[in-house]
Amino acid sequence: MTTADNAIYDAIGSGYANNRIADRRWAQQIHEALGAARSVLNVGAGSGSYEPDDLRVVALEPSRKMIVQRPMGSAPVVQGVAEYLPFRDGAFDAGLAILTTHHWLDPERGLAELCRVSHRQVVVTWDPDWFATRFWLIRDYLPQVGELERTLPTLDAVTDFCAARSLQLDVQPLLVPADCTDGFFGGYWRRPHAYLDEDIRASMSGLALLDEGIVERAMQALRTDLETGAWQRRYSDVVQLMQADLGYRLLQISR
Ligand SMILES: C[S@@+](CC[C@H](N)C(=O)[O-])C[C@H]1O[C@@H](n2cnc3c(N)ncnc32)[C@H](O)[C@@H]1O
Repeated sequence: MTTADNAIYDAIGSGYANNRIADRRWAQQIHEALGAARSVLNVGAGSGSYEPDDLRVVALEPSRKMIVQRPMGSAPVVQGVAEYLPFRDGAFDAGLAILTTHHWLDPERGLAELCRVSHRQVVVTWDPDWFATRFWLIRDYLPQVGELERTLPTLDAVTDFCAARSLQLDVQPLLVPADCTDGFFGGYWRRPHAYLDEDIRASMSGLALLDEGIVERAMQALRTDLETGAWQRRYSDVVQLMQADLGYRLLQISR
């Protein structure tokens, strides 16, 4: 496998760093999960969100388009894929993989590589069943995303991987604040107008990779519901919330 096999973000990654700004509440939870680690390998690092600046971090990322968006002074980055990590056994205290395993061509191999180079891993992914049934945008406007996501290596893939190797797995919810600064798919759950913005949608692979016609029709339905007030009436309970559990999960893997 070469980095060319993982070129999705070379196609959809422009503008990622502008829309995907690390949320400080997620950053704190991720930092706490890293515990006493002093050195961290951040795999699928993208533009560098959630890399703790008080730890020794090395980033690994396949897409050049993402690498060039890393801010000046951020951690050193190696171009590569999770499935073939160019580091010796036990080179890091912890591995970090945030919203990336669903893109890996061979997630089992990628996770095995992470476990080879570090004894503890912190992985952020999501429960696609929860996401499809609790997030209004998927449940009521874009069920096609839910169907697609059930096939992706997310929570179940990591759970199965750990069970097969008798690794310890701790799973915690990562609640999404109403004013989340990270523009991942669920990040705008209480700001529905944001989903009508093409630039914002472009940084959400779940939407960017879906058939354009399906997304257009769903966005038209959302636009109409927002204009008529139907959305506001239907989701009057949602707009009261300050944070929501959309199924994002923080996983800690250890031996
Ligand atoms: C949604 S982005 C997440 C980036 C970053 N972790 C963040 O939280 O903003 C997913 C990243 O995974 C990377 N990726 C895709 N396939 C990969 C692979 N096989 N190994 C490592 N990273 C991969 C993509 O290029 C992309 O940068």
